[in-house]
Amino acid sequence: MSQQATAIARANIALAKYWGKSDVGLNLPAVSSISLTLEPMRTETTVTFDAKLASDEVILNGKPAEGKAKSRAIKVLDQVRALAESGHKARVESANNFPTASGLASSASGFAALVAASWTAAGLKRDDVRWSAMSRQASASAARSIYGGFVELPKGVPGDAALAAREVAPPSHWDVRIVVAVANEGAKDVGSTEGMTLSEQTSPYYRAWVECSDALVEEVRAGIMARDLTKVGEAMEQSTLAMHACMMASRPGLIYLQPATLAALATVKRLRKEGIEVYATMDAGPHVKALCHAEDAERVAAALADTQLVLRTLVAHPGEGLEIRT
Ligand code: PMV
Repeated sequence: MSQQATAIARANIALAKYWGKSDVGLNLPAVSSISLTLEPMRTETTVTFDAKLASDEVILNGKPAEGKAKSRAIKVLDQVRALAESGHKARVESANNFPTASGLASSASGFAALVAASWTAAGLKRDDVRWSAMSRQASASAARSIYGGFVELPKGVPGDAALAAREVAPPSHWDVRIVVAVANEGAKDVGSTEGMTLSEQTSPYYRAWVECSDALVEEVRAGIMARDLTKVGEAMEQSTLAMHACMMASRPGLIYLQPATLAALATVKRLRKEGIEVYATMDAGPHVKALCHAEDAERVAAALADTQLVLRTLVAHPGEGLEIRT
């Protein structure tokens, strides 16, 4: 007998950034973060538990996964098997419609979809709060992809295994756009967990980063509730640059920004001078994601696509939370 389920999760972009852990074992964030769930940047994952399989199989974007990617997925399957009291091995097939492992938060939608699909395939009842907590253990930003629209993941008190994200406002609350300027299609060299540990252990700015983040999260949350793009945008840019300053001052320095990133940032600044409300953010990778009003998205995308070294642009809008396809 085999049991199968398919889940769709969207990527998310942090408007107030997460960088640093308060509990490495439970993967709890040291700072709160607020994100926007992005449509149409999706991961679709099908999990099949099959009594005939001798071992777990994990296929990512059409290729068998190896090493860390495979072992992280198996860890999720093991947790679900323990809850469902099942010993069956699984076949996981997962595909993204956007570049993997390059700062576009593919781990977020990937783990959110994997948790929900394996949970459902194992016959367990839908539970968004527990999905979010389990996703967080695999990748903290994944906890946010369970929910749609504007989502907060609070910082964690060490030992709080149940910490989950929560909705701040649904996708219909505010019709903004994120224009992604793709700077490079390759995978990043230093993953976020390794990078965060390095920053915590070596960056003289780590403490300052943690200290300034609470006020920035408050500002982003208040700006979202008031649909105030200036407030959200200014706080988002400061959160981004404070996080990158902390990363860069690590030893050795973590420099995720590339020439295309700086060129795109200059374009965002120029557009603002020309009277368009647009603000930039970057994660652990070189892409620039620009936040703007829906009516300005076409002009922002055209200007970023025209920027030297930028490969292409994608436009995203607020998306829904986890979907199960039956
Ligand atoms: O959840 P992780 O381990 O992929 O870390 C994500 C960290 C950033 O993308 C840089 C910031 C964020 O809040 O998404």
